[in-house]
Amino acid sequence: MAAGAYRKPIDGLAGMSKKIPCVSYTPRLRVSDILFTRTMTKIKLYIATSLDGFIAREDGSLDWLDALPNPNQIDHGYADFLKTIDTVIMGKSTYEKILSFGVDWPYATCHSYILTTDKDFRAKTAKTQVINQINPSMIEQVKAASKKDIWIVGGGITITHFINLGLIDEMILCLLPTILGKGIRLFPNNPKETLLSPIKSELFETGAVMVTYERKK
Ligand SMILES: NC(=O)c1ccc[n+]([C@@H]2O[C@H](COP(=O)([O-])OP(=O)(O)OC[C@H]3O[C@@H](n4cnc5c(N)ncnc54)[C@H](OP(=O)(O)O)[C@@H]3O)[C@@H](O)[C@H]2O)c1
Repeated sequence: MAAGAYRKPIDGLAGMSKKIPCVSYTPRLRVSDILFTRTMTKIKLYIATSLDGFIAREDGSLDWLDALPNPNQIDHGYADFLKTIDTVIMGKSTYEKILSFGVDWPYATCHSYILTTDKDFRAKTAKTQVINQINPSMIEQVKAASKKDIWIVGGGITITHFINLGLIDEMILCLLPTILGKGIRLFPNNPKETLLSPIKSELFETGAVMVTYERKK
């Protein structure tokens, strides 16, 4: 997956928004509301998925991401997204997958949190902390320590835990025009019913479609 963006709203979604009735409404905002909104840290999921909802093959491989024809090496908004982040959270399987690439830790500028129930697990990367359990108050502390937004890198098991706790504010899904048929699921283990509002969509020249959803308040 790579760089430069062909930004074109997806016709279907643009049409859908036209059908929403428009009601004139002038909200009364106080200065304190505006300041609070601006400084609030968001928890964001940003992930590539196959059309049928898989994030990796059964053996964890990601070769199908690189198979996407991308002659102009566009990055599907990745660099811009990274500028909004100073904290990453991921499950142990995703952490080990990234380490298996044998590259420098890609999130060296961020605080990283690795989830595992294994109390003996030790992180091998800089500024990385192991968490054995997530709960809303602990995540509030992580939020308070972040100056930017927090990225839930994945994988699916981790994502479902965050969904079940109602902790994801924004989901940015990069849908690849690929049906894998089987693999590791984006939303495994029956996550709880959750309503989202689409707020943005982009079609890239590679055929990938990026859709951003926010949690319905
Ligand atoms: N397509 C993409 O953009 C993308 C992005 C990210 C990841 N991936 C792929 O996704 C695959 C991994 O996904 P996955 O769903 O199998 O696993 P995962 O979510 O990465 O990791 C699962 C493990 O994390 C730990 N964990 C998760 N939630 C926890 C919680 N609330 N409390 C304590 N521990 C928790 C557990 O480790 P223990 O069993 O040790 O307790 C669990 O087995 C990899 O192949 C990776 O490459 C793809």
